[in-house]
Amino acid sequence: MNANSERSKPGRGTVPPGAGDVGSRVATPVIIDTDPGIDDAIAILLALASPELDVLGLTTVAGNTTLHNTTANAMRVLDLAGRHDIPVAAGADRPLIRTPWHAEDVHGADGLGGADLPAAQRQPIRTHAVDFIAGQLHASPVPVTLITIGPLTNIALLLALHPAAASRIGHVVMMGGSTGAGNITPTAEFNIWFDPEAAHRVFASNLPKTIVGLDVARQAIVRSEDLTRLQAGGRVGQLVTGLVDYYSRYYQERHGTPDTCQHDALTVAHLIRPELVTTRRLNVTVEYGSDETRGTTVIGEPLITGAAAHAAVAFELDAVAFTELLLDRLSALDAHVG
Ligand code: BDR
Ligand code: CA
Repeated sequence: MNANSERSKPGRGTVPPGAGDVGSRVATPVIIDTDPGIDDAIAILLALASPELDVLGLTTVAGNTTLHNTTANAMRVLDLAGRHDIPVAAGADRPLIRTPWHAEDVHGADGLGGADLPAAQRQPIRTHAVDFIAGQLHASPVPVTLITIGPLTNIALLLALHPAAASRIGHVVMMGGSTGAGNITPTAEFNIWFDPEAAHRVFASNLPKTIVGLDVARQAIVRSEDLTRLQAGGRVGQLVTGLVDYYSRYYQERHGTPDTCQHDALTVAHLIRPELVTTRRLNVTVEYGSDETRGTTVIGEPLITGAAAHAAVAFELDAVAFTELLLDRLSALDAHVG
């Protein structure tokens, strides 16, 4: 028996019936490194609702809000979904070098827009996130995929502290970067900008990686009317409706539309259904030397630059299929959680 069948046995797996049918396919073991964060919370729920994934744990990092808040929020979301079996390990409370700046204008002071969600009923495990990831990588008989939907501080620390464990990573699917415009500066995306030295270290590594950046995330729209199916639902539906409602206020003010971009859920969705997005193999580096271009991802065509194509970069999304997948899975989870 391998780790996946072990983890999927009755008593641990609470994947909602009907959420998806993977037949005899074995679920991919994943660790989600996250800074919840409104869109992170929705991404975590999507992962929990998806039988293609076996969530070994959540690791938290400072980003959208403080580490204290991101860790509490990760536990609150898991508690809501009844997944008390999934451990949460707290990680880095600040970038490697930079002074933290949190996106409270987007995600609210608590990171979840003041969501009506009870306080966590448990504590994070005592193990640091980086050590937890290393332990899981060593223990798993099959490669583990890291889904990173926050700044890359924990992953950079993993590379530095546990290189042998890091070499066992199956794949890193990350939300971060942009080939064009940014969302925190004219050219930088938030997760990369928050800790550009960490991002540099990860991009310069030989980890197999896929990048879901702003180019494609801006196509992953959820509109208020999309949520009608969830509004009459249970606790998951109510939470997601409230989160999107709060998030849409920022989009209305900053972008002139209430349509929200679900960056982090798209990153999870790409792992569940790779065919949702097109990717190209390109070279990606991170600019960290200048304040003006801090955190800019420089994405180059190998035929032009001669640099190695070391990352898959997502570009085009089947937006209708994405929204359908997200709502189907969240609805099924809602029905399961009640
Ligand atoms: C990314 O930054 C955060 O604010 C979101 O949670 C997402 O991971 C989008 O740039
Ligand atoms: Ca995030």
